[in-house]
Amino acid sequence: MARIAVIPGDGIGLEVTEAAMEVASATAMAFDIPLELEWFDYGAEAYLKSGVALPDGALESLRDDFEAIYLGALGDPRVPDMAHAKQILLGLRFGLDLFVNQRPVKLLHERLCPLKGRGVEDIDFVVFRENTEGLYVGVGGIFKKGTPDELAVQEDINTRKGVERIIRHAFDFARREGRRSVVMSDKSNVLRFGHDLWQRVFDEVRAEYPEIESRHLYVDVLTMQMIKNPAQFDVIVTCNMFGDIITDLGAQLQGGLGVASSANINPQTGVGLFEPVHGSAPKYAGQGVANPIAAILTAQLMFEFLGHGGAGQAIESAVGALIAENQVTRDLGGSLDTAAVGRAAAERIGAAVRS
Ligand code: NAD
Ligand code: IPM
Ligand code: MN
Repeated sequence: MARIAVIPGDGIGLEVTEAAMEVASATAMAFDIPLELEWFDYGAEAYLKSGVALPDGALESLRDDFEAIYLGALGDPRVPDMAHAKQILLGLRFGLDLFVNQRPVKLLHERLCPLKGRGVEDIDFVVFRENTEGLYVGVGGIFKKGTPDELAVQEDINTRKGVERIIRHAFDFARREGRRSVVMSDKSNVLRFGHDLWQRVFDEVRAEYPEIESRHLYVDVLTMQMIKNPAQFDVIVTCNMFGDIITDLGAQLQGGLGVASSANINPQTGVGLFEPVHGSAPKYAGQGVANPIAAILTAQLMFEFLGHGGAGQAIESAVGALIAENQVTRDLGGSLDTAAVGRAAAERIGAAVRS
């Protein structure tokens, strides 16, 4: 029995999670996968009421009692410092040591691509973002806050263990999936300490994978190349902050944040955390206009992680067919609402397996 902890979160997270879980349940039924969903109301509303974002013992329970955690999105204008998201999202990434943030960039239909003359064969790569270190660790401080002499320090933490394990994971993935190349991206021309470490570790690790082409690109040039010639990329590995930024760019190559999926995992330990790349998009919350495809493709990553590759593939095929038929939300040029897209995907998966 695969037990899934479902945290819809805030804003459009509520609607897209509802749709994605309808698809997940239909997929589980079609493929005879025993799936149990348990819903949690962690998010801004609960935080504002109780002052608690993640109750005592929640992290341990999510770790020990579930195979996967599914998160919609977090972010609410009433919590401008994102204190609750820090505790829940970063709390889970760091607390469960989910050092791999896997973010596929795959164009499912030519018409979704903003680049002239590019098709599905040109855009199909995976970004591996380091997920437990870098500028995200919250080490630093503010001195003389609010005075003209104010000083703010935000430390960028890079450990040998942390850098090595994500680079190695990218190469292992490339080897396992038959991908041709790995690009490591940093800013080592300027960050002479932290990213010098990335350079040295990359050189060591790449030597162990002679059959995989490996290259380095500075992150500024990487962003340019992602637009100029995305077909050159198979696997990209980078640090936490750059990974955050380039995966929004990658999202747009596939049709926008409404279609970009993401998995947070640690291949050595149990539970994984699955969430779309997008946030809570407060201005669209509660209107039924949010695109649930990113959330649905995130459920695909969850099934693959749980060892059900066929079920994952069925989700991708169903989504691809809906896009081809324009049975999508308005951000992709359609006129369906969030729930209708979820329903259509769920029905299609059931029908495909029955036929
Ligand atoms: P966002 O990703 O929520 O939205 C940016 C824009 O992208 C939206 O205005 C919309 O035009 C489009 N968009 C995003 N998701 C969409 C969808 N499913 N369908 C259609 N269009 C979609 O980013 P933001 O506005 O910068 O952030 C809003 C809040 O979400 C903030 O509080 C931010 O910190 C948070 N956030 C959370 C996560 C997460 O929980 N994983 C990720 C990113 C941002
Ligand atoms: C993401 C988001 C998060 C991040 C925020 C909400 C903390 O932007 O998952 O891409 O920066 O990692
Ligand atoms: Mn982001």
